[in-house]
Amino acid sequence: MDKRTIVTLPGDGIGRVVLEETIRVLSAAGFEADYVEGDIGWEFWEKEGEPLPQRTIDLLEKHKVALFGAITSKPKDEAAEELAPELKDKGYVYSSPIVGLRQHFGLDICLRPCKTYEGNPLNFIRRGANDAIEEPKVDVAIFRQNTEGLYSGVEWSNPSQQVFDAFMLNKKFAKNFGNTPKEDISISTRIFTKRATERILRAAFEHAKKYNYKSVTVCEKPNVLRETSGMMYKMAKKMQETDYADIELWNTNIDAQMMWLTKNPENYGVIVAGNMFGDIISDGFAGLIGGLGFACSAQINPDSGVAVFEPTHGSAPKYADYPVSIVNPIAMVESACMMLDFLDENTIASKIRKAIAEVVKEGKVRTYDMMKMSGSADVVEKGAASTQEMADAIIAKL
Ligand code: NAI
Ligand code: MG
Repeated sequence: MDKRTIVTLPGDGIGRVVLEETIRVLSAAGFEADYVEGDIGWEFWEKEGEPLPQRTIDLLEKHKVALFGAITSKPKDEAAEELAPELKDKGYVYSSPIVGLRQHFGLDICLRPCKTYEGNPLNFIRRGANDAIEEPKVDVAIFRQNTEGLYSGVEWSNPSQQVFDAFMLNKKFAKNFGNTPKEDISISTRIFTKRATERILRAAFEHAKKYNYKSVTVCEKPNVLRETSGMMYKMAKKMQETDYADIELWNTNIDAQMMWLTKNPENYGVIVAGNMFGDIISDGFAGLIGGLGFACSAQINPDSGVAVFEPTHGSAPKYADYPVSIVNPIAMVESACMMLDFLDENTIASKIRKAIAEVVKEGKVRTYDMMKMSGSADVVEKGAASTQEMADAIIAKL
């Protein structure tokens, strides 16, 4: 078989080191690929006024699959300040390159699995009957609609008269906001389409079927957000009745779900939600299995086969320039395992996951987050493993 080409998008800050270490793990596990690096992130904003250059888009167009580290984003005004002098005041406006990638390639399926590793000192524990300490095993797969909803950027402050008039056609708007001066109104819309909703639900049910999860939970707020959440739940119900009768369909409200996730997280399997609630619920569950050092994700367009795999964490700029890197590479390595799943390299993926599980369970090699230290340059002297040492430990178990 031809060797694959994987696009690497290290980005900013700790993105580079976690990606480098992950590629070391992939190679040691026997995954053969060529890697081509794509330019993305702050450096290219400063130098070119574009954090996501066209050449990077072309690269991904060609090779389809990317491993992404992390990028740094800053508020608009701060971003404008940091532009190269010759680019200042030329109309360049910063926008997040990862959001740009999602939109350009229609990466509408976001999957964020959260699974407990036995022996992880960061695992969630609770008090059970007779005050006994329990450590429930979490194994959820969260499907987040990644391109629409509240994050689609359809919003206004001081909307134009036309927009205002259009909203006035809505009775509730007219009654509750019709007398507020336009200048005092900000609006962010929450738009769901049937097509994208169908796609995220389908992906969720297919995942449940493939990996034998007994339930799919739609986590929204259909009693209040009747149109968008309501539509999603209705479509899920129909899909379940027609195609997935063996899988239970549950319906939870996002607020209640945030409470239940610390009461009975072991009860959930696949969870599916719109963009914002998916973001919230996945951070909630990630907190139960070790937090940002363990949270991985995939963003996929099933039609074009373009897919980007990345840890949930950002660029952690404060740790980026330490002489010895201290951050936990597991989230990035796990994201790479999701890439292997996507490429049907399941044997290598399982091998790496097993190696991580052994390292975590053994407990001899732990990064600072796993030791519950606060991050600083001297954590390695105090006994925490460096990023490289964690990768070495995983490699040693392969
Ligand atoms: P962050 O995820 O970079 O860091 C938050 C905290 O988590 C930090 O204190 C750090 O100690 C810890 N942390 C992060 N990754 C870790 C790892 N692998 N191991 C151990 N500890 C880890 O989020 P923050 O500080 O809010 O944002 C920093 C920059 O990253 C910002 O510019 C933000 O816009 C950007 N960002 C980028 C994302 C992406 O590339 N997809 C996602 C989130 C934030
Ligand atoms: Mg988030």
